[in-house]
Order: sequence, then structure tokens, then C-alpha cells
Amino acid sequence: MEKRELLYEGKAKKVYATEYDGLCIVSYKDDATAFNGAKRGTIMGKGVINNRLTNRLMRLLVENDIPTHYVAALNERETLVKKVSIVPLEVIIRNISAGSFAKRYGVEEGIVFEQPTIEFSYKNDDLGDPLINSYHALALKLATQQEIDTIKSYAFKVNEVLKSFLLGHGIELVDFKLEFGRLPDGTIVLADEISPDTCRFWDVNTHEKLDKDRFRRDLGGVEDAYQEVMRRLMGD
Ligand code: TMP
Repeated sequence: MEKRELLYEGKAKKVYATEYDGLCIVSYKDDATAFNGAKRGTIMGKGVINNRLTNRLMRLLVENDIPTHYVAALNERETLVKKVSIVPLEVIIRNISAGSFAKRYGVEEGIVFEQPTIEFSYKNDDLGDPLINSYHALALKLATQQEIDTIKSYAFKVNEVLKSFLLGHGIELVDFKLEFGRLPDGTIVLADEISPDTCRFWDVNTHEKLDKDRFRRDLGGVEDAYQEVMRRLMGD
């Protein structure tokens, strides 16, 4: 597989074309940002960990009948994926109050919900990824009603699969963000990454944070937290 031109560079990943039309190579960086790029830094080894963790979790989801863009791991930092056009919605599922939910509604972190919640953000850096509802997403033609229905049902299924897998490894899945893409024939598949950058992971016993909140909130032990998630889920 040959890496050709850089198609896109985001805050945490680069995407390259390959010699095959429908396939891309994703390359994970150690760069970390928060608050829409206002805070910047490096988390040493993050790219390697997020690549491995994302691939492990994508394979688990495929086994559970969730279609994804994943094709094959190539090396430590790079993965072959199907080329998709990203639906410009960040899909956030929450099981426990934290982050912007706790802030917006004035509640403490750690309230366990009876049912998971779902929300969308409009993926637009210039606007700071504002919260959006499905009517607004339809009005802006970001997705069709059918696509939104599909995305919602996949997102809740992803939650069930990940929640029970992670719990088996001593990790509570507090919340997470997903992105979906369209294949050339319009099929919706899960894309992007699933990692401590895009999920909140708490130790099930101590509630210690094992995710990017350690970077966002300057809690220290950032690299150790990423390593710990990798150790628990991959055995090293
Ligand atoms: P929030 O509480 O800040 O809204 O974040 C909810 C979840 O989404 C959390 O697990 C972190 C993840 N997330 C991203 O992956 N990218 C983002 O840009 C933001 C704001 C959150």
C-alpha cells in the first residue's frame, strides 16, 4: 500500500490518498488540542496508542454488526480505512454526567443516568462546533432524516457494545464522541477514532480519569493514563 498525497490534516490525524480510489491511510499524531485548538500540547506516544485502541474497538464493533470504515492496521501509527465523506455532526453519547453536560446544566460530574443521552454538535471549527438539534441539521442539509435515524441507532448500539467490553476491563464509559461517514453508495459507516481523546474513561473503582481530561484540566499523568487504558484493553 502506497501513501500518496495528503488529503486532510486535522488536530490529531492526517489522512493520505493511496493508489486505490476508495482507500485512505490515516496517520495518528502525538499532537493534542483542547477547547477548539486554544490549548495545545504533545502527548508522547498518543498516536501509537490511539491507533491501536481505535483499531481494537473498531474490530469489536464490526464483530457486533456495526459497519465501520476500518480495513486493516498497517503499522504503529497508520491504518487503512475506506474513503468516506464525513457527515459534519459530532455524535455524543453520555452515560454519566461530566464535561459540558455538567457545566451547561449546573450539575456535578458522576450522576449515573437511567438511560444514555444523545446530542449532536455541528462539526465546524469556525463556529466552535455548536450544539445542534436534528431539525436544524435537516434545515442545513447536513444529513437526511434517514441518515440521522441510522446514526442514532448505531450510536446507541456502539454504546452498549463498548460499555460492556470496557467494564470487563475495569473501565467505566462516561461519554464519547463518534463521527460517521458516507461511502460512495451512500451507506453510513462509523469513521474517525475511538480513543482516550474522544471518550471519557473512569476507573470503575476509584473513578480516576483515564482520558484526555487529564490534559484538558492539567491534572498530570496524561501519558500514564493513556498507557493504562492500553494495558487494560490490549494487555500491554
Ligand atoms: P463534552 O463534555 O466536552 O461535550 O465532551 C463529550 C465527549 O466528547 C467527551 O468524551 C470528549 C468528546 N469530545 C471530542 O471527542 N471532541 C471534542 O471536540 C469535544 C468537545 C468533546
